[in-house]
Amino acid sequence: MTVLVTGGAGYIGSHTLVCLLDLGYEVVVYDNLVNSSVKALRRVEEITGKNLEFVEGDVTDSGALDDLFAKYSIDAVIHFAALKAVGESSQLPLQYYETNVYGSLCLLNAMKKAGVNHFVYSSSATVYGEVNPSPYVETMELGSPSSPYGASKVMVERILADAVRVNPKFRAISLRYFNPIGAHPSGLIGEDPLGVPNNLLPFITQVAVGVRGNLSVFGGDYPTADGTCVRDYLHVMDLAEGHVAAIDWLAEQSNFNGVEAFNLGTGTGVSVLEIIASFEAATCQKINFEIVERRAGDLPAFWANAEKADKVLNWQAKRSLSEMMEDAWRWQSKNPNGFS
Ligand code: NAD
Ligand code: WQD
Repeated sequence: MTVLVTGGAGYIGSHTLVCLLDLGYEVVVYDNLVNSSVKALRRVEEITGKNLEFVEGDVTDSGALDDLFAKYSIDAVIHFAALKAVGESSQLPLQYYETNVYGSLCLLNAMKKAGVNHFVYSSSATVYGEVNPSPYVETMELGSPSSPYGASKVMVERILADAVRVNPKFRAISLRYFNPIGAHPSGLIGEDPLGVPNNLLPFITQVAVGVRGNLSVFGGDYPTADGTCVRDYLHVMDLAEGHVAAIDWLAEQSNFNGVEAFNLGTGTGVSVLEIIASFEAATCQKINFEIVERRAGDLPAFWANAEKADKVLNWQAKRSLSEMMEDAWRWQSKNPNGFS
């Protein structure tokens, strides 16, 4: 089976490539490298001992997508390519909607023309918005996320619901990720944010490696056990395996026409202070931090109900919090400046 992986050079995409190649899938990566490096792809080849096809291009370029589907015989698509910085999306809403929504439309149209009918979409826990209580369950009504980034994820889920209705052969899965962290255990690939990291774990590892000073913990007065925000952190390799489970499930369903959403999380909430303590215990690195003002837009606490992915896809997040910390640290300490 040949899988087209858009955004495959990025953080989650590169880890998913390792799983796909290890299991014998052929992969074609399509990425414009706006937030990634071709070195990640070479490292994936080093880890797996397999070659992959890479085409540099933009998901909003319909002509290039048509050429791609004409050149390769694609069986299924995993669509990671997107802009993902929540704060930046409020500054650059049109750019975010163009890449994340229009880009998805271009891809879906190119798939339709080429007769490719299996689609796995990178959605996010952010689609549940502020209104739903945790644990989030897939049957909940989607919320109205305040950021253009979050809104773009809701919009594409909505587009998929309509697209499957008018094409009896089309089937899709939206994977709603919680908070992926960690890295491949080889330390050869990992998360490599541009500039100052927005997300917690890359900030912590950059403090530990000496690239940053103190960690600012955003808010210590939330209504949680220790006053800091609670999230559902999962190992990026567990998340990567969820994509293979999704691709396999789509291929196995002989008569299925529709879209199914799955939460991919551990089902357990962990606070920011617990993350710091876990990192320190797993790596013997001291993280200097101070508690500062809350960050605008942060929800106090959310985590997944991940039973549907277990029952239907036979997928579970298996790796422990300390493995997440050890692997994140191995990647950062071996690559203090990421891929550059
Ligand atoms: P990433 O930025 O590392 O990867 C995204 C990839 O898409 C990058 O390689 C980037 O160069 C590429 N890309 C961006 N715009 C493109 C365009 N116009 N054309 C072609 N390629 C383009 O991000 P990630 O963390 O690996 O996230 C992958 C997907 O998962 C995204 O859709 C993101 O919204 C979603 N997601 C991520 C998280 C998270 O915490 N990392 C959580 C939920 C959902
Ligand atoms: C986790 C916790 C912060 C940095 C975001 C998006 C979400 C998803 C994943 C894509 C929060 C705290 C962070 C720091 C801190 N992306 N924190 N100091 O906010 O749960 O989710 O990324 O879909 O849509 O919103 O993840 O890693 O940014 O933050 O105290 O320097 O760490 O306040 O409580 P978040 P995060």
